[in-house]
Amino acid sequence: MRSFLGRDILSLKDWERAEYFRVFEICDRLAPIAVNRTNSDLLARKTLVTAFYQPSTRTRLATEAAMHRLGGHVVGFSDAKMTRAGDFYQESIKDTVHMLEYYGDVIAMRHFQQGAPHEAAKWSSVPVINCGDGWGEHPTQVLTDLYTIYKEKGTLDGLHFLCIGDMRMRTMHSIGYAISQFNIEATLVYPPEMAPTEEFKKELNDLNVRFREVKNAADAIADADVIYMEPVVQADYTKSREENKDNKGLTPPAYQVTKKLMREKAKPDAIILHSLPRMDELPADVDATRHARYWIEAFNGVVLRMALLALTLGAVE
Ligand code: CP
Repeated sequence: MRSFLGRDILSLKDWERAEYFRVFEICDRLAPIAVNRTNSDLLARKTLVTAFYQPSTRTRLATEAAMHRLGGHVVGFSDAKMTRAGDFYQESIKDTVHMLEYYGDVIAMRHFQQGAPHEAAKWSSVPVINCGDGWGEHPTQVLTDLYTIYKEKGTLDGLHFLCIGDMRMRTMHSIGYAISQFNIEATLVYPPEMAPTEEFKKELNDLNVRFREVKNAADAIADADVIYMEPVVQADYTKSREENKDNKGLTPPAYQVTKKLMREKAKPDAIILHSLPRMDELPADVDATRHARYWIEAFNGVVLRMALLALTLGAVE
């Protein structure tokens, strides 16, 4: 297995099966620190730099919380407008990263441009973690999701995923690449204007991913062990920021998962994951059902990032 020491985490496209389990093993080892709401000193001599060019609640704060849980230090920005990359100078990624690499030992970057963390990694002497790049990928979210499924189901093999939402979404890309390493079948449900690109479908086929496409979640939900959701009332991820609109629209029933649908059609042990934030595709009354796993998924987001930071910074080998 390749070492994680000093490694950039940019894409799940090239991850091997054993690497997922290695990360999950470290998650299990470090999880008690977060469960017990304490901090350790594993990364006491290291500093995380967060460079977020797009809004985030979970990814930035979970990554920063993970660093604190391991006793490390955090510097960074959550609004690029307050940096030289977001004002008159529009400082390039190359020049910005040449600065950031002197301020810490690992850089966690979210950007509205697809490929921006990859560009950063070209110029950075410290590891770069992709925390979401445009419509590109969201590897730390999907590692969190797979860890959650692994813990809840005890396996990642022999499962059927129902993926509902915008197939242009970065999580959908990362999960598509990731499931190629497991015995997982996927059913994709999406509005026509949010279809997977032909290029992405070719990539899935090239990776031997078994998937089918259907028009309505209700027609496929009975087969699903894991229901994996994203909104279809959606922001434009190529923008640095999109303000709330009065006329955002509503989610058509074909892309909604309701309590009634779960009761009438889902497997009794089906679980629902959603990376959040949500719109009306997942009504809040589903939260109290036995199917909801998105809050434990959010907690696992801290544990997973603890494992990635510990591995890439060499605190565990
Ligand atoms: N799931 C996720 O990426 O959430 P944030 O945009 O709040 O980081």
